[in-house]
Amino acid sequence: MSARLRFGIVGTGMMGVEHITSLALSPEVAVTAIVDPTPSSLDWARDALGDRAAGVAAYRTVAEMVREGKLDGVIIASPNHTHHDVLQPLLGTGLHILCEKPLCSSLGDAARVADAATGHKGVFWVGMEYRYMPPVGRFVEQVHGGRVGRLVMLSMREHRFPFLTKVGDWNRFSRNTGGTMVEKCCHFFDLMRLTVGAEAVRVYCSGAMDVNHLDERYGGETPDIIDNSYTVVDFANGVRALLDLSMFAEGAQEQEEIVAVGDQARLDVTIPRGDLVYSPRDAFRRPERVERTHVAVDGAALAAGSHHGATYFQHRAFLDAILNGAPVAVSAEDGYRAVEIGAAAELSARERRAVDLAELRR
Ligand SMILES: NC(=O)c1ccc[n+]([C@@H]2O[C@H](COP(=O)([O-])OP(=O)(O)OC[C@H]3O[C@@H](n4cnc5c(N)ncnc54)[C@H](O)[C@@H]3O)[C@@H](O)[C@H]2O)c1
Repeated sequence: MSARLRFGIVGTGMMGVEHITSLALSPEVAVTAIVDPTPSSLDWARDALGDRAAGVAAYRTVAEMVREGKLDGVIIASPNHTHHDVLQPLLGTGLHILCEKPLCSSLGDAARVADAATGHKGVFWVGMEYRYMPPVGRFVEQVHGGRVGRLVMLSMREHRFPFLTKVGDWNRFSRNTGGTMVEKCCHFFDLMRLTVGAEAVRVYCSGAMDVNHLDERYGGETPDIIDNSYTVVDFANGVRALLDLSMFAEGAQEQEEIVAVGDQARLDVTIPRGDLVYSPRDAFRRPERVERTHVAVDGAALAAGSHHGATYFQHRAFLDAILNGAPVAVSAEDGYRAVEIGAAAELSARERRAVDLAELRR
């Protein structure tokens, strides 16, 4: 036990609990501390820990946990608008940090954290689970390997259920989340950057809250979060990307449909089915040339969370960086860049105009 890495989980709501259940599959780690100001959330964590809850220290604030010491790593799964302050006592220490997406809810906070993270002594990693869904990982590998030829177009569709209810309803307001295009869509913007291999230069987003949350009131206030949008992102290398988001389409058979089109072929991946479909241009005449591959996902990893096994596989990559010095795949700068595209999309939707990233760049 003493040889295991000691991790603290900050924020033990839905995602904190998914980290706990997924970490149970990594024998190198023991969760030794939990932090949450909400007692019922601490109880969720204890339930998830089961027999392992004995001896786990519980704190109301991250500062108390840090004062106590005795930790090697911290996973931050508190609400988006708390990430900046939660990180303050941690940055610059030797603790290994995995901070859930989005890095921060505002671009200014994200910039400050990304700058401070350059001097951090431990591994600093931003939680971008979608990269770690095995079928998505295979898709990215194949695009990078030239399967579609020269990548020209990349489209991502997420058609899903509305935002779930969160502790204290923090996710109903853009001031807490950064807005839907930051909160949820930073995943897709991160995946676009990874797949395209370049930075975004221009964003046009048409989006609004047209269906969900219209009748909800919190302290007399109506939510202000986008529930559907189309976003076009132009990249510096000429690739164009599209995100099609609907959060009132839970009847869709596939939650995510991602398509890369190059000058030689098209490649599709779907989640949750986990199928890759390769369609070279000559399949127009020779349909037998279409190749379908199913990417199976380990059952224990799938069962440990609700992100197609991604939380477990991301932990493995994070641990590889800590234990073996493997490169950090999702740095604070990557987290910042994803927030930047999301913030540009929010601005674009509000002002109904294309936004050059140069307007926002620090
Ligand atoms: N990567 C993903 O796919 C994914 C999925 C869901 C959520 N998330 C992210 O995880 C984070 C948490 O989301 P959630 O869905 O678990 O929300 P949640 O509301 O279920 O849980 C958040 C918890 O944080 C606690 N909290 C609030 N302020 C805190 C503070 N200062 N210090 C410690 N704990 C605090 C709350 O009491 C609550 O228990 C968010 O940043 C969210 O964007 C990521």
